[in-house]
Amino acid sequence: MLTRRQTLALGAGGLAALGAPGFALGRDEDRGPSLHALAQAKGMRFGSAVGVSPPGTISGAFHDPQYRQLLIDECGVLVHENELKWYVARPDAETFDFERADMIMDFAEENGMEMRGHTLLWHHTDWFPDWINNHDFGSRPGTEAERMLTEHVRTMVERYKGRIYSWDVVNETIDEAGRFRQTPLSRHLGEEVIDLAFHIAREADPAAELLYNDYMNWEAGYERQQEGVLRLLERLKARGAPIDGLGVQGHIGSGNYDYSTGFDTAREDTWRQFLDDVVGLDLSLSVTEFDVHDKNLPADIEIRDRKVAELGRRYLDLMFSYPQTKDLLVWGMADQYSWYQEHWVREDGVAKRPTPYDENFQPKPLRQAIADALIAAEPRP
Ligand code: XIL
Repeated sequence: MLTRRQTLALGAGGLAALGAPGFALGRDEDRGPSLHALAQAKGMRFGSAVGVSPPGTISGAFHDPQYRQLLIDECGVLVHENELKWYVARPDAETFDFERADMIMDFAEENGMEMRGHTLLWHHTDWFPDWINNHDFGSRPGTEAERMLTEHVRTMVERYKGRIYSWDVVNETIDEAGRFRQTPLSRHLGEEVIDLAFHIAREADPAAELLYNDYMNWEAGYERQQEGVLRLLERLKARGAPIDGLGVQGHIGSGNYDYSTGFDTAREDTWRQFLDDVVGLDLSLSVTEFDVHDKNLPADIEIRDRKVAELGRRYLDLMFSYPQTKDLLVWGMADQYSWYQEHWVREDGVAKRPTPYDENFQPKPLRQAIADALIAAEPRP
């Protein structure tokens, strides 16, 4: 069996020569190659989010040694679940707190994994810390808003320069009706608050990939949001903002905003049209937060796992059919640590099953579906 380091050293060509499926690379003999090894063989990356909330909490998976081992076994990329967000890293207007973020960064580096950065500006007041929502912007509010955002983005990106290869510069600024969300910052700077974040990020680390990240999905009900995101991307490009791609969160399955939508309403044609328009703007695609919400599926585990895997496979095949898609990150690797356990709980109260591994760290059909989609993907140019 090869060590993780040897696997990495082999690279895409080496893996292909070994005929990836079924060959043990860096993990359990009978489980075959890791998801990241399968991705690498196609010039892609596979990874996951992980959080450092207090031990025992859903977003505190980092404290679980079995979970950390699973990340080492399967992933080539990690992303902070919450630790770079303003509400964790910015206790107040003057202070930056990187303690939790650095735990993940150090762990990734010690284990030869890369890191994505999520996120410099979650443009959604629900997720702003109260101190910004209540901040006194003074007599020149535009100047103060610009100063605050510039300091924040510059400090974050410079700190992790050369260590975080890709940033979700701005997250979620278009609502489901397709409208631009207002925040205390945009009230003073207008929509160009988004451009500013991109410009400062590019200046702070010219080599980092810069994405706009959002949750417009392929289910019915997201059409206006898709339209709004597309128009925003067009305006950003027209104004010369240094944006490299769109982060497609990929929280598919039962719609989070309208439970009547979901598994049966995935619309491949309108979704493809949207993605065609995005890549037509010369933007890359990344799947940044993939999971499959099983809120409305029958409780029966076999049925649920099968449906989750089938939908996941269909979605990934479509996403990977775009050569512009190089990264696949899941929003958690094991069910007990999925954010869905505490958001939009099921009416029958049973635990959800949205991730590739179950609560005993056993691979589920979704893990196989991801592996199969990676194996079926064309090598990236
Ligand atoms: C979620 C985290 O998983 C939760 O722990 C937290 O309570 C809320 O945020 N889209 C995003 C992510 O961009 O940042 C969100 O993460 C999930 C939806």
